[in-house]
Amino acid sequence: EQDKFKHVISHAKEYGYIFSSSEIYDGLSAVYDYGQNGVELKNNIKAYWWKSMVHLHEEIVGLDAAILMHPNTWKASGHVDAFNDPMIDNKDSKKRYRADVLVEDYAEKIEQKAQKEIAKAKKRFGDAFDEAEFVSTHPRVVKYRSQSKEILTRLATSLTNEDLDDVKALIEELEIACPVSGSRDWTKVRQFNLMFGTKLGASAESATDLYLRPETAQGIFVNFANVQKSGRLKIPFGIAQIGKAFRNEIVARQFIFRQREFEQMEMQYFVRPGEELKWFEHWKVLRTKWHQSLNLGEENYRFHDHEKMAHYANAATDIEFNFPFGFKELEGIHSRTDFDLKAHENLSGKKLQFFDPELGENYVPYVIETSIGLDRMFLAVFSSALQEETLKDGSSRTVLKLPSILAPVKAAVFPLLKKDGLPEIAKELLKELQWDFNVVYDEKDAVGRRYRRQDAAGTPFCITVDHDTKEDHCVTIRHRDTMEQQRVPMSEVKAIIQKEINF
Ligand code: GAP
Repeated sequence: EQDKFKHVISHAKEYGYIFSSSEIYDGLSAVYDYGQNGVELKNNIKAYWWKSMVHLHEEIVGLDAAILMHPNTWKASGHVDAFNDPMIDNKDSKKRYRADVLVEDYAEKIEQKAQKEIAKAKKRFGDAFDEAEFVSTHPRVVKYRSQSKEILTRLATSLTNEDLDDVKALIEELEIACPVSGSRDWTKVRQFNLMFGTKLGASAESATDLYLRPETAQGIFVNFANVQKSGRLKIPFGIAQIGKAFRNEIVARQFIFRQREFEQMEMQYFVRPGEELKWFEHWKVLRTKWHQSLNLGEENYRFHDHEKMAHYANAATDIEFNFPFGFKELEGIHSRTDFDLKAHENLSGKKLQFFDPELGENYVPYVIETSIGLDRMFLAVFSSALQEETLKDGSSRTVLKLPSILAPVKAAVFPLLKKDGLPEIAKELLKELQWDFNVVYDEKDAVGRRYRRQDAAGTPFCITVDHDTKEDHCVTIRHRDTMEQQRVPMSEVKAIIQKEINF
């Protein structure tokens, strides 16, 4: 797993997907830049989300709100008071941890012990192995499973009760039972606000304290009435937005999974009070379908219903993905009640209500939110696509099997040789295709090596112009995943690519 993760990071750099921010100055922790291929993949993921969430839903419209917002926004939303992570420092190692993440790591370590027992038994019993039976009866597995569950329950209870001393006690106990950090002298657990502060205005005295938004959602809530009225929208309707969000994360690790500057793709769906749980289920189904449509492997997804809820929610589910470091949250679906709109009504004194003509009454709508991290989706797509294959002849190839619709470059056009007029024909084809797709031209090295380069970069098609092209006006199309080659008329190339990347 560790090796796979390292491979993902190095491959992302080598093929122009992701670089550390300001790398020549040794980088900035948990901030990343997207390179020439990365920006294309990111844009394609955005477009795929936007198409299916906005354009294919008559009742959903888009928005692009500013990153800087009136500071009252974050008072009303609860972020000033409650957007905290519990933090603990280890006095020996001088390392800082997020207390809840650390406890989760202990639980994960114990879960791994159970996994080891299961794997061992699987090997021993072969086809006769009944996993469900085994995990419910094997004494050690049952013990490990209940231990890890108990730890997480105690953590949730302590956090809900804001009993930070108990979180510290839990860490001390667990560090003895199953060491993760390797040292034992801890500070108190303290709450740490995750919002980045900044200032508006020139002079120190008159400047106003602002925050960089920690979620895009509030831009939607404060614009609820503007969009509803100007669009003459009737409930249920949705507002969708893609944009940057900033969080001063305590532990920055796992590459683009947990960043300090990242992008969210969020949609708030406004519904009648009392109908929210129906719509919550509805959006769970639709979002699952969206993920399935990309074929990243059903086994890589898992749902996790929340018992512990954020301050604003009455139902919440995470869609988890099997990242190179295990299953972690990719998307959240939350039933946010009328918490946000009511809070903004109260603080601003402006009505944020909807007149429901069927009921003949005004009310503050309830909200179902779907919120996915663009960078996390990028990592899910990229890491599941990266594969090492052993070919029939025993050689191996690195291939990035990105869904064609998301691939940064759709086709690479090659002249077989750098002479005999072949580059001219290839460039002509390139020019023609450029109007419809992002395509590249490559004439360096033998064709086999050019194929491998494109495989590793994730390009679904390579198109080669050879000497016969001059006579028969046909080219060879080579498919990335099957490595199959097809001879087709040049005039059909566009339609072939188009068919593959249709929405
Ligand atoms: N408006 C709701 C909200 O912001 P969240 O669970 O805090 O909820 C939503 O964040 C999504 O944003 C997460 O599921 C995750 O994909 C992404 N996300 C959150 N923090 C992130 C970070 N530090 N780096 C990258 N993505 C992050």
